[in-house]
Amino acid sequence: MLKTGRGAAAPPFIVMDVISAANARQAALPPGAPHVIRMEVGQPGTGAPAGAVAAVQRALAAGGSLGYTEALGIPSLRARIARHYGDWYNADIPASRVAVTVGASGAFPLAFLAAFDPGDRVAMAAPFYPPYVNILTALGITPVILQAGIETRFQPTVAMLERLSPRPDGLIVASPCNPAGTMLHPDELAEIAAWCHANGVRLISDEIYHGLNYDAPLATAAKLSPSAIVVNSFSKYFSMTGWRIGWLVLPDDLVRPVECLAQNMFISAPHIAQVAAEAAFACGPELDANIARYRRARDLLLARLPAAGFPRLSPSEGAFYLYADVSDRTNDSREFCAHMLAEAGVAASPGVDFDRERGHHFVRFSYCGPEADMAEAAERLAGWR
Ligand SMILES: Cc1ncc(COP(=O)(O)O)c(C=O)c1O
Repeated sequence: MLKTGRGAAAPPFIVMDVISAANARQAALPPGAPHVIRMEVGQPGTGAPAGAVAAVQRALAAGGSLGYTEALGIPSLRARIARHYGDWYNADIPASRVAVTVGASGAFPLAFLAAFDPGDRVAMAAPFYPPYVNILTALGITPVILQAGIETRFQPTVAMLERLSPRPDGLIVASPCNPAGTMLHPDELAEIAAWCHANGVRLISDEIYHGLNYDAPLATAAKLSPSAIVVNSFSKYFSMTGWRIGWLVLPDDLVRPVECLAQNMFISAPHIAQVAAEAAFACGPELDANIARYRRARDLLLARLPAAGFPRLSPSEGAFYLYADVSDRTNDSREFCAHMLAEAGVAASPGVDFDRERGHHFVRFSYCGPEADMAEAAERLAGWR
């Protein structure tokens, strides 16, 4: 038998399997039956902002070559991303430190390969976004899981890091995070960033849900640490998932390594998506209207889900997720979600994807779908309990 590589053992991203199950259920419904409410997907239903689409139409009409771009991205887009750090965070980031990537997903292997070696140890709090662990493992890097609970809003702390022996080589944080929707507040992120820098631990800060924060203010690791790597994307706030476009803010020592890796692995991010992304920065009012919608959906669900049998919810300070502790209702969140889909017509993600030890007691609800669906979901779940 031929050998297969470490990557061949990568586990599925279970949310993608839940999406398939919800699609199948919807397709099997008789005409006129109530539709499946999609609370499993972390994908805005809103589509790209109009200004981004118009820019693409102009670019296509102009008949340009739309060939490869420089590996780190179109210079005007890199400059616009750098300016965004001044606008949002009052941070001075030179365009030379920005790398445009194929979504945040494409940024992860670049960052991990540039920063770590096989055998290195990279810490993160559970629950976590599953591809962190799956990509690290495929690259021969060992994930080190910090069990975080509601008392730290499912986020890591310096005290947890101090307890690790040996010290990890890296730390991944996400704020707002997926699946809990909780944040590291600016003072907490600053403390972690300073600790990592002082202890030679490479901090990777996933800031993909920036802009989707409802109460707490935002801070970027790019302003707090000269050694941190920041990952971001046009998928969430900018509502452009399928355009596959994201970015990295890199420390000086990793710019050229990431450029070389990107040249070899991707050549460049899609040219047309880069044109759209640059135009998306001018679409603030449309994007802010999306946020107002998420906020209303969040408030509605926080108010109504407890009475519908989900009283233990994460604080949900950002992103568009609620993480529900369902330990009083099941020991098997996968089966629980399958029943919820079959009987209530509401699709949600089992926590096992995000936390292999405790996830069987949790369910993630995403509230970025149509507002009317969110109200209907609360009603259906109240009837289902
Ligand atoms: C925390 C987090 N990081 C990264 C990604 C990947 O995003 P992208 O569409 O930019 O590849 C996601 C997608 O849901 C996410 O939730």
